[in-house]
Amino acid sequence: MNRRSYLFLAPLAGLMLPGTAFAAGPECVQSPGKVIELCVSVDGGNATYEVRRGAVQVLAPSALGMTFAGEPQARYTALKGATRSASDTTWEQPWGEQRLVRDNHTEMTVTLEGDTPLNKAVDVTFRLFDDGFGFRYSFQSVPKGQDVDVMDDRTAFDTVGAYQAWWYEGLGQERDEYLYTQTDARRITLAETPLTLKGENGLYLSFHEAALVDFPSMLLEGDGAGNLSAWLMPWPDGVLAHKTGPFTTPWRTVLIGESAGALADSRIELNLNEPSKIKDISWFKPGKYVGIWWEMHLNKSTWGSGPAHGANTANVKHYMDFAAKYGFDGVLVEGWNTGWDGDWIANGDKFSFTEAYPDFDIDAITAYGKEKGVNLVGHNETGGAVVNYEDQLEDAMAFYARYGVSQVKTGYVRHSGTIPDRDGGKQWFAGQYMVRHNLHVAEVAAKHHISIDAHEPVKDTGLRRTWPNMISREGARGQEFNAWGNPTNPPEHVSILPFTRLLAGPMDYTPGIFDIEHGKTELTRRVQSTLATQLALYVVVYSPIQMAADLPENYEARPDAFQFILDVPTDWEVSKTLQAAIGDYVVMARQPRGGQDWYLGAVTDEEAHTLSQPLDFLAPGKRYEAQIYKDAPDADYRTNPTALVTDTRVVTSKDSLDIAMAPGGGFAVRFKLLD
Ligand code: NOJ
Ligand code: CA
Repeated sequence: MNRRSYLFLAPLAGLMLPGTAFAAGPECVQSPGKVIELCVSVDGGNATYEVRRGAVQVLAPSALGMTFAGEPQARYTALKGATRSASDTTWEQPWGEQRLVRDNHTEMTVTLEGDTPLNKAVDVTFRLFDDGFGFRYSFQSVPKGQDVDVMDDRTAFDTVGAYQAWWYEGLGQERDEYLYTQTDARRITLAETPLTLKGENGLYLSFHEAALVDFPSMLLEGDGAGNLSAWLMPWPDGVLAHKTGPFTTPWRTVLIGESAGALADSRIELNLNEPSKIKDISWFKPGKYVGIWWEMHLNKSTWGSGPAHGANTANVKHYMDFAAKYGFDGVLVEGWNTGWDGDWIANGDKFSFTEAYPDFDIDAITAYGKEKGVNLVGHNETGGAVVNYEDQLEDAMAFYARYGVSQVKTGYVRHSGTIPDRDGGKQWFAGQYMVRHNLHVAEVAAKHHISIDAHEPVKDTGLRRTWPNMISREGARGQEFNAWGNPTNPPEHVSILPFTRLLAGPMDYTPGIFDIEHGKTELTRRVQSTLATQLALYVVVYSPIQMAADLPENYEARPDAFQFILDVPTDWEVSKTLQAAIGDYVVMARQPRGGQDWYLGAVTDEEAHTLSQPLDFLAPGKRYEAQIYKDAPDADYRTNPTALVTDTRVVTSKDSLDIAMAPGGGFAVRFKLLD
């Protein structure tokens, strides 16, 4: 039956028409404000769901279901027991982009009856919000304790109409560290999520998942006609997931809004995760850090031992002095532990996580830090040698805890698809194996009151709600690419991230490079932004920990710009996307947690943009001093990137501000409450 006739018949619920055996449904549910409607049906052995937003059909009937080893693909023959409920609550994040999060949703659970033993009763729970929905399977008929192998996930998202997509090809060896391309969504082959689409119908969609626990990551495979289906990262033997019955899957999520900002301001990701399992997370404090990091990426010093070893005691003390002088919370030190000499990516199993190089005196360093009020931020690069890390994990965390280190950056630099497991298998970076590993690290770390900032991570799926010590991740092309070249991130990258990668959760982008050219003449071998952009990123790219990534001397050379980094907080009461065009520009405003000020950040692509921004987010009747950091009139990321003008003026919520950005430019403001 083609899609059109199916839709026509759908309202004839449960009617047994000739030739359409096993038709059941639809069972429908609407979001709290009746913005979105979702209906589930069973027809001809297939279970499908379809979605409308007002008069617009967003998803045509799209497949549901999974297939297990040892049985054929199930035919779903009946739809049973639709139960519906609604809930409207508000909960508080211990830290975050928004203190209070409203969770206003309706819910419907249906049971799909399949004709195979393991698919006999499959509960599917749909949760609808006005800005999107999520759904997950609960395989109730897999007997308790029985091991099963998931071989196929039939879940589909069949979009209706023409869409543009921002995406990159999944399964690449550099994991999620790729530039986005914008194409017709029909050209998607295999895309990572969050996968963001903009429709000719005026709608913005983003496909992702929430609460990815003990299951493989989902990519989306396109069929050339706008239909997307789940593609789970397999184990080396081709099995998608090893589960024990009965089990529940992660949520598959779809954000639906009328603007790019509606996607960025959605909190569905968090709402579909479980409440915190860590009773008291007061040992993690959002904040800013500096580190022995950029100097290695610039080849000014080395991770490995020798005369240029960056992680030496004197250098760490120098950074600690700088951090203390300007009020930074921590100093990240990479390359302090043995194992970096030679090809550390190939020899990740040589890393020790408790043995320091002789020129790194951790006792003296942590004592010095204590005196100065600066924390040492730990670093565990694994080189993707996960077995070696797991074998030392308990010791690694106990070691750091003993020295008062409460924040650790991890790293998994190794080509995806080559991560060795204990059985000699080669794993993808985000299959079930690595999903388990990432959570295991966070759990062990939590026991030691340590928070984790994972680089080369499994993509975020809102797990920070349940494990608030999973504070930040990389999982996209970050600033490091701006040291390496081949090529560096083009300006539009940071105007795409807020509507793609950042929909998943915080990112440790490591902003704040002031020496834009760092000795390189070629544009594609140095930072492609203005100085104002580097400031704006502290507002545009959310993370509870933000690095001031450049060398101390480069900050001291530009006190005019540095002041913004010193002022900007990393924990927020409210966050709002004010204006955006994906890949062109974005303007965001955030209010500090527990504070009265506001901060604004805007970035643009390679084109100059002047935007008029109403300040109606400010409290009415109050006066603010707007401390403005903007591109100079002659600034240009290609020819004059560090030309910055600072300016102050008094504004109220009735005013508008002209945000004038140079090509590759940015704009940052602190609105300081005056009365
Ligand atoms: C890649 C990480 O993203 C980067 O921040 C780190 O410096 C290197 N790996 C070395 O661990
Ligand atoms: Ca990286």
